[in-house]
Amino acid sequence: MSVIRKMPLILSGVSTGLMAFLFLANSAAANTKTNDESIHHISATVCKTCHKETYKQWKGSMHANSTAFKDPIHGAFYRKVVGDPGKEGVKMKNGKYPVCLQCHAPNAAKDKVTKLDSKPAYAEGVNCIACHTLKTFKGIQGKNGKLNLGLKAYEYSDKIQGTGRNSNHKLSALTAGGDEFGFAGGDDEQKPNPHLGKPVTMDGKDIPALPMESNPKQLRTSDACMGCHDKRSNAHGVPLCATGDEYVASNAKADCLSCHMPTTGERSDHSMGGGHSLPMLQRSVVFSMDSKKAGDTIKSVVTIRNKQPHTMPTGAPFRNLHLKVTAYDKSGNVVWENAKGHPGKTDKQAYMHLVLVDDKGKPTAPPTAKGQGADNRLKAFEERHLNYEIPAKDVVLVRSELYYNLLWPGLVKKFGKKIPADVTAPKLISASENSI
Ligand code: HEC
Ligand code: HEC
Ligand code: HEC
Ligand code: HEC
Ligand code: HEC
Repeated sequence: MSVIRKMPLILSGVSTGLMAFLFLANSAAANTKTNDESIHHISATVCKTCHKETYKQWKGSMHANSTAFKDPIHGAFYRKVVGDPGKEGVKMKNGKYPVCLQCHAPNAAKDKVTKLDSKPAYAEGVNCIACHTLKTFKGIQGKNGKLNLGLKAYEYSDKIQGTGRNSNHKLSALTAGGDEFGFAGGDDEQKPNPHLGKPVTMDGKDIPALPMESNPKQLRTSDACMGCHDKRSNAHGVPLCATGDEYVASNAKADCLSCHMPTTGERSDHSMGGGHSLPMLQRSVVFSMDSKKAGDTIKSVVTIRNKQPHTMPTGAPFRNLHLKVTAYDKSGNVVWENAKGHPGKTDKQAYMHLVLVDDKGKPTAPPTAKGQGADNRLKAFEERHLNYEIPAKDVVLVRSELYYNLLWPGLVKKFGKKIPADVTAPKLISASENSI
């Protein structure tokens, strides 16, 4: 059946020899379900055949791990507020299709499917096709104050959207005659190019036609990100994340790609690190400390400068930072510290976080929040000074440490073993030391 459906494609202007070759290749692969499926069912493993390095970067990213099956934090929340990601027909409390999937599993959302393991392209979350078929960003503001989130903020295409770098093939199609296997440059290894609009074979695999359009307006700007990263509210209208609003308020000119998709070698890096990436976190702030002894007191000033055009931490409302300041004697014993354990209760300035509150103004989790409480995260580009007075007796060294946490301590306790300890453990992102 799939062979028959492929016929018109094969017949369109391909030589008979090649046609027979493709025909055979396609018959052999008739049960691999590629060509005869819509583009959003194409797995990232198809792209991997040729884009190996990009695939590897993406595979390690949270985009490839964005579903409830792969991300334990998202999984814990999803199961609580929505349900089983392995079941069909799961609905939100309001009876609607789970909005989460518009961003966390966009290919499933296109089909209104909730059984995320029913196709690789669903389980892959934000995969190659999910981003590379977004055609135009319409903005997330819908009618009557409603937000169009994730996929709903875009018009999408059944053609791969390219940057313009290797996706302008019209002139070569005019001049290269029948060379439908034309090789696009930029790689040491020559590869058949399925983006010219015809199926090809590579490493013995049949690759369906993956026609491509040049679309730099979408691919080379923050438009590529904002549908999913601008902002989102919970069911009570309380903003949960607002990276887009933070960015607009910062008046920054550099777009998201300049930091989140730097070039490595000949390619743009698809690792797209954030709160799960230690190297990214380490470069997020300029962290330093100055300590001066005056009589029997040491005055230490810790300076934290946020380098980003968005809040630090940005994104999910439970991301947070905490600061530890410790003074040591000459044997390395602790003689003073800003807080025993987590500073949340005893040194409030050292715990940088957003508070979400219920009706009574009490801290609560994102799904149940009725409002925002205090927010002392670092604003875009903010430089903050935190002052400490330390009794100088016996002190030879003051050390300060900045930690990043994916979850509030309360949530870590609440979810317990549902989330592996290495995911929730504080990550040391910067340290500074002064000898006295
Ligand atoms: C059979 C090999 C092959 C497969 C499979 C393949 N591509 Fe490509 N792709 C190429 C070649 C060749 C080029 C042009 C040279 C280059 O950029 O490496 C290219 C270029 C691209 C570009 C860059 C164009 C531009 O101007 O920005 C994008 C985006 C792209 N491919 C996406 C995909 C996606 C998504 C998939 C999977 C659905 C995929 N490709 C599968 C061979 C392949
Ligand atoms: C989160 C969205 C997103 C995902 C997921 C994604 N891409 Fe991209 N991709 C982009 C953007 C944006 C660019 C353009 C970056 C730039 O301007 O340099 C790009 C550029 C490219 C290019 C152009 C050449 C280059 O590297 O500069 C290729 C090829 C490509 N992507 C392939 C893939 C493949 C293969 C996958 C899956 C393994 C994938 N992309 C997943 C957003 C994405
Ligand atoms: C189709 C929706 C979608 C698009 C488009 C998209 N993202 Fe994402 N992105 C997500 C989701 C969902 C997550 C969260 C995955 C998780 O943690 O479960 C995420 C996570 C991230 C993270 C956090 C990684 C971490 O370490 O926690 C960064 C950074 C990021 N995306 C950057 C980008 C950039 C830059 C672009 C544009 C080139 C982009 N994204 C486009 C949906 C999207
Ligand atoms: C100057 C570099 C820079 C620019 C520009 C930038 N970011 Fe970031 N971003 C970072 C760094 C560093 C981090 C890690 C620290 C943090 O979480 O704030 C990060 C973190 C993130 C995260 C992770 C949040 C989480 O929960 O893990 C997201 C999402 C994100 N950025 C989205 C964006 C978007 C969308 C844009 C464009 C509007 C953007 N960023 C522009 C540097 C940048
Ligand atoms: C508008 C797109 C969008 C929608 C809708 C959305 N999310 Fe997310 N979600 C993201 C992005 C982007 C991130 C990661 C970056 C960040 O923190 O902003 C994320 C991160 C998360 C995280 C943190 C994951 C981690 O690894 O720490 C959880 C939990 C989460 N989302 C749960 C949900 C649930 C549950 C729903 C549905 C009720 C939902 N999200 C709906 C875009 C969305």
